[in-house]
Amino acid sequence: MSPALRGNRLSAVETVYSRLVGLGLDAAVAGADGQLTSATPWWEQSVPRDHIAELCASAVSDDVARQFGGAHFVAGIRSGDGQVLLVRAAAGTSEAAFQLAQTMRRMLSDAYSQLETGGMVREFSTKLAAAYDETNAVFRIMRMMTSHGDAVEQLSLVCNAVQQAMSFGWVAAAFKTDAGVIAQLSGNVIVAGNSRGDGETLRAALVQLTGQLKIDGWTQVQLPTPGTVAGVTGGEVIFDPITHDGRVIGLLAAGDKASRDPRVVSSELQFIDACSDFIGVFHENLARFHEQKMMSMGVLKSLVAAIDAKDPYTRGHSERVAVLSRLIAIGTGFTEEQAERVHVAGLVHDVGKIGVPDWVLRKPSKLDDAEFAMIRRHPETGHRILKDVPLLADVLPAVLEHHERFDGKGYPCGISGENISLLGRIVGLADSFDAMCSSRAYRVGLSRENAVQEIRRCSGAQYDPRLVEIFLKLDLAEYDVLLLRQDAQLPAPKMAA
Ligand SMILES: [Fe+2]
Repeated sequence: MSPALRGNRLSAVETVYSRLVGLGLDAAVAGADGQLTSATPWWEQSVPRDHIAELCASAVSDDVARQFGGAHFVAGIRSGDGQVLLVRAAAGTSEAAFQLAQTMRRMLSDAYSQLETGGMVREFSTKLAAAYDETNAVFRIMRMMTSHGDAVEQLSLVCNAVQQAMSFGWVAAAFKTDAGVIAQLSGNVIVAGNSRGDGETLRAALVQLTGQLKIDGWTQVQLPTPGTVAGVTGGEVIFDPITHDGRVIGLLAAGDKASRDPRVVSSELQFIDACSDFIGVFHENLARFHEQKMMSMGVLKSLVAAIDAKDPYTRGHSERVAVLSRLIAIGTGFTEEQAERVHVAGLVHDVGKIGVPDWVLRKPSKLDDAEFAMIRRHPETGHRILKDVPLLADVLPAVLEHHERFDGKGYPCGISGENISLLGRIVGLADSFDAMCSSRAYRVGLSRENAVQEIRRCSGAQYDPRLVEIFLKLDLAEYDVLLLRQDAQLPAPKMAA
């Protein structure tokens, strides 16, 4: 009979039994009632059941060494959990059998020690593995928070990573509706994983708890009482404030612990504490990035306004081109964020005109070849001015290529078709349309009907026909408001178109 297994491990008694059998001895393991659980064939075939029961009973208080069947002695010991280990000493004296019982006792004691040590090692390994998972998660979270993507998307990834590193059913980041919170996150509740309770009720409870947090403090454990976040799901919930410049802006929480012991342990508190600190730093970085972006845009708008002001007739041109370019981009399927970059491209497309003399820009009559050559240099001048500004690296193609033509007859490079960047084609179309619609010193702007007709006529020659189709379907109300503003400020043109 093979020794019984408990889980995947032998118990101490069964370990000793296996060793004794390995030494060629007839051994048996029995319960206190004399029932055999493991035994070599000799015990099964040669020893009556009532005799085994008697041996087991006599091993209750002490180790036994009994003579059995004339020549045989039996050594027996009782383990801590009531099992009796019996061994036949085929020949010898009661003294020898007693010595054998003593040896079995020592073997059992060793087996207990080994099991205990093994248990400690396993426990340590489990803790080490958990610590590794958490450290790994911390590094992944840090990497997620260093890129400048969508803040909500990034925090969803972070909450997912935290939830996967812990044995919790859900992890949530909730933010206050507060001037100190960046717009993308203000009032937002981001939940990863699944709650045992109702999702909407959990969100509402998290919003309420976030509103109650006034000062930074220790990571706390909330017990499941009615009206609390923990009360929604019925298990303990950890939460820790997220702060920015010492002010509480939100919280990070975790609940529905999934392991056998549903109580929160100190390593989990520390992990949530570390993660909420990371999110606080992440928010500070985002807020600074946003501030810098607004400042840079402010500087950019001033620069563009200065260029547009070189000629009263082109005042507002860059902003109108920016608005038109953004509308075309959205019509083309760009995301809001991408369209925002196209807007910036439209804003700065003529920055190179800063290098063109005012008298050339303002000249009311036809330009001669030399003057026209000066104008033709502005895309490259603009590209040169902006190429070292990292924030504008993605819009450079529009600055350089907005005077290229789809048929290759444009400038400065004479490239054609899709060799011209999409950004260049979009801003080029927007630029031409605004130039047609707005008035100049020497002519009034074309009517909307004539401008649209001109765009349609030049589709495939000057403009990308696919973009023209999209453009012709656009609602230009936003653009028209800006155009009317320019018309109201202009002196009457000297020549009619
Ligand atoms: Fe231009």
